[in-house]
Amino acid sequence: MKNKVFSKTNRPLLGELRIPGDKSISHRAVMLGSIAEGTTVIENFLDGEDCLHTIDIFRQLGVEIIQEGTTVTVKSDGVASLKEPKVPLYFGNSGTTARLMFGILPALPFYTVSYGDPHLTVRPMDRVITPLTKMGALMDGRKDGLFLPISTHGTTLQGIRYELPVKSAQVKSAVLLAGLLATGETTVIEQAKTRNHTENMLRAFGADIKSTGLEHTITNKQTLTATNVTVPGDISSAAFFLIAAAIVPGSSIVLQKVGLNETRIGVIDVLMDMGANISISNKQEIGGELLGDIEVTYESLQGITIDDEKIPSLIDEIPIIALLATQAEGTTIIKDAEELRVKETDRIHAVVDVLTTLGANIEETADGMIIHGKTDLQGGKIKSYSDHRIAMMGVIASLINENPIQIDDISSIAISYPTFFEHLDIIKGTVEK
Ligand code: S3P
Repeated sequence: MKNKVFSKTNRPLLGELRIPGDKSISHRAVMLGSIAEGTTVIENFLDGEDCLHTIDIFRQLGVEIIQEGTTVTVKSDGVASLKEPKVPLYFGNSGTTARLMFGILPALPFYTVSYGDPHLTVRPMDRVITPLTKMGALMDGRKDGLFLPISTHGTTLQGIRYELPVKSAQVKSAVLLAGLLATGETTVIEQAKTRNHTENMLRAFGADIKSTGLEHTITNKQTLTATNVTVPGDISSAAFFLIAAAIVPGSSIVLQKVGLNETRIGVIDVLMDMGANISISNKQEIGGELLGDIEVTYESLQGITIDDEKIPSLIDEIPIIALLATQAEGTTIIKDAEELRVKETDRIHAVVDVLTTLGANIEETADGMIIHGKTDLQGGKIKSYSDHRIAMMGVIASLINENPIQIDDISSIAISYPTFFEHLDIIKGTVEK
């Protein structure tokens, strides 16, 4: 889907949507289901390319996985039943698959080799290789283990105590998964709270894991017990439409059954702090995860500062938050977000490039960006950098740009939000629900 053109909407965004399943939770449900004994049924699984790679990998490892739309059934006899894959494992674009799989693969008693697409191939893997090697993992990769492809040789891992040098749920999860399979106890200490879906789900599958503040300790347990998982709607996907409604005059939409885990809702806090009209109803808890309906109605906005411990709770939403900030009066500063430089692309550079092309007043800084609003955006030709969240930000931007926006490639949107355009059409009123 090359060089597609998107134009301003001539009416407000209205209606209700059921947002697809959370990407992080969908990955983890397949992973834990595959190393647990018994049958795990996953409802509202995200049928996006990243999560399909996780399914494929466990099929290569001998697990029976049946997918019928957004229902996925995983049948396993536990981690000891996993088999040596006959082919290299392919992670595609998925950083979560890569980092979390490296918490499991080194403890399996056979050889594996894994690789990714050209974007994943230049993302740092030493952040997981370093603690795993300390646990005794036998792994090797390109450039001394910094990059994929990476191989693992089965061995026994030992528990460790590890202070995370980066604010990363992926690294925390890799060490905890390795700790589950290692001898003794493993403790991970975070610098700031990052998403805690791995801890929640390990608990639901019967693992012995304790969390106190920023410290998490897991004890070896070779057998988890299968349990069913209902995946909440992905707040990171919901963010595109929450912000669309917050910037298109007259809009009012409801997003149903969205995950409201406290480690993920930074985007809701940002909208509230900027003065958006936003409310939450029908809260419920399923499998240790909170969900609810979010309603947002167009309102004028003010710039704010987003920094420090807030960043991990909205790290994936920063591209669309930057667009939001162009429509807020005054200055918005985003800092302490240097992790954005090693996402699917360098998202600080990509966001600043795209929004500058559209006419925003935005400056790039080493660890974030500064946006001066409010600006009337003018449209133009932009690059998505093959990054799903940059591509979706461009499409949402088109709703308020004076002139059309041409995007070089939107195929990456299928990575995390395969039904994005259907949903956009519903709230634009272009099709009936
Ligand atoms: C994820 C954690 C985050 C996030 C990514 C998904 C996860 O990465 O950006 O999209 O599922 O654990 P880091 O933990 O590396 O910041």
